[in-house]
Amino acid sequence: MASVDLERVTKVYPRSGRGDSPPAVRDVSIEVRDREFLVLVGPSGCGKSTILRLIAGLEHPDSGAIRIGGRDVAAVAPRDRDIAMVFQSYALYPHLTVRKNLSFPLDMRRVAREDVRRRVESVAGSLGLTHLLDRKPRALSGGEKQRVALGRAIVREPKAFLFDEPLSNLDAKLRAEMRGELRALHDRLRTTMIFVTHDQIEAMTLGHRIVVLRAGEVQQVGPPLEVHRRPSNRWVAGFIGTPPMNFVRGRVETVAGRRSARVGCGIVELPADLAPSVRDGTDVELGIRPEDVHATSIVRADEPSSMTGVVCAVEALGDHTLVRLTSDAGDVVAKLSGRETPTRGTPFSMRLDPDDVHVFSMSDGSSLRGSPDPAMP
Ligand SMILES: Nc1ncnc2c1ncn2[C@@H]1O[C@H](COP(=O)(O)OP(=O)(O)OP(=O)(O)O)[C@@H](O)[C@H]1O
Ligand SMILES: [Mg+2]
Repeated sequence: MASVDLERVTKVYPRSGRGDSPPAVRDVSIEVRDREFLVLVGPSGCGKSTILRLIAGLEHPDSGAIRIGGRDVAAVAPRDRDIAMVFQSYALYPHLTVRKNLSFPLDMRRVAREDVRRRVESVAGSLGLTHLLDRKPRALSGGEKQRVALGRAIVREPKAFLFDEPLSNLDAKLRAEMRGELRALHDRLRTTMIFVTHDQIEAMTLGHRIVVLRAGEVQQVGPPLEVHRRPSNRWVAGFIGTPPMNFVRGRVETVAGRRSARVGCGIVELPADLAPSVRDGTDVELGIRPEDVHATSIVRADEPSSMTGVVCAVEALGDHTLVRLTSDAGDVVAKLSGRETPTRGTPFSMRLDPDDVHVFSMSDGSSLRGSPDPAMP
């Protein structure tokens, strides 16, 4: 068990050619608390694996410090950092049985034979691998192999686990099962875990907190729901959430005493926590999540918080319906209940709750709303 701190860490890989490559990790500070489950999420190439490799000691930072359990590990070799890493490609030893694959890290450390047997059997039991102990990896399914790879990390009883997209080779059903197992594992072991993914669902469901990364830089850190409800900038808003947030341009004005924005297809009332510095006449970008668009029968153009459009595509998925609307403000996707299946070509009025409207600066994309309510779960 240990905290893991990165303080202003930058990593630049040398480029085999002329010129400097941009930093893979740029001035990143992250405090992973003892026993926390922290998820690093971001698009391909944003530096997630590099951060794990830096913590594991497989790469060295160009500047900044890394501390594990409060101790600076700059001079500590990877094998002495007491950290276990599980990769996407779970390299099991093909010629060894599951039992031997699991015991390998302990045999390497010359742990007493009886101790090894006890630990291997306990881990195998908790991962549902007991009946597979005498098989070789080629006789295992993908999910079973993945669990052996996890087990091999767990038997070491490390201070912290680093997971690099360990579920990405599994099918959707197994992924869901493994998410459950990982959460249960964390509850049981209560060990610090850092988990890398670009999967939205994994990020939202696994982490106590998530760190959103873009091009080597931290964009936002917080509990998943807080990041979803109060993205700190337009980029995070567009990255977190499926289907992605809609963006429409608007101009701030005060309508009947309420801070609103006029968009091409109506008037949208703005949230009460809009920054007071945003003056009437300012151009802003509004962000509206598809699930926050509600159908309404009001079709008065001057009705606040309503926009009108025309249904141009309908995808009825049973439990919900995705509707693409064309409007004078651009296309807007609405996620409606499965019972609502509007007809293509018909007019559609949308109602929005002001608190669901995100407002971003046109110049730097930052959120123009106040900080989230600290009491929010
Ligand atoms: N050994 C290396 N040498 C040079 N450049 C590298 C090396 N490893 C990674 N990079 C570059 O550093 C950046 C970050 O890579 P990294 O592997 O950390 O991304 P990632 O977020 O894990 O991506 P993915 O989701 O695709 O695994 C990328 O631009 C990548 O091309
Ligand atoms: Mg990676």
